[in-house]
Amino acid sequence: MEKGVTVWFTGLPSSGKTTIAHKLEGTLRNRGCKVEVFDGDVIRQHLCSDLGFSKKDRDTNIKRIAFVCKLMTRNGVVAIASAISPYRETRDYARKEIGDFLEVYVKCPIEVCTKRDVKGLYKKALNGEIKGLTGIDDPYEEPLNPELVLETHKESVEESANKVLQLLESGGYVQPVKKGQRVPV
Ligand code: ADX
Repeated sequence: MEKGVTVWFTGLPSSGKTTIAHKLEGTLRNRGCKVEVFDGDVIRQHLCSDLGFSKKDRDTNIKRIAFVCKLMTRNGVVAIASAISPYRETRDYARKEIGDFLEVYVKCPIEVCTKRDVKGLYKKALNGEIKGLTGIDDPYEEPLNPELVLETHKESVEESANKVLQLLESGGYVQPVKKGQRVPV
């Protein structure tokens, strides 16, 4: 069985976490890896539909995602978590629980995230329609020692996903493609 691992994407809303997560997922599937994405928005529709956005609820959300990632990881899967996960202590808890854990900080200036505003949340927060949006009036604690930092305002989705892939290869979690080996793109 292959060695499982959790790739944990953390960052502001609209920083690019989920886009990179799915790009990576596709690449790994094409290589024959077992992979699963745990996206905050999707998890909150199912496993965490009882939770809101207080610190307590966000921590519970992250702990539940970490629990599932831990089960996946010990069964040889590449588990990809994509959640804001704004609190350092809770991310460190996930790291400790899971063991094989790669923290990837999806870094992007708030001005750029606000411009992208994929879900229209920044506009609502700045208009006062919603309260407690991460990065506006709720905290985001930057990782201090992430395994990788992706600067999504400077690099393409492909470049970012490739950096994670290289990290997985150098950690021995994913086999590098051999010379002459054909892999679907
Ligand atoms: S986390 O803080 O608990 O890690 P998570 O990534 O699961 O957050 O969910 C974030 C998603 O919830 C956002 O992408 C957005 O669609 C939605 N959302 C709604 N309200 C908020 C808010 N106040 N802060 C952050 N995200 C919010």
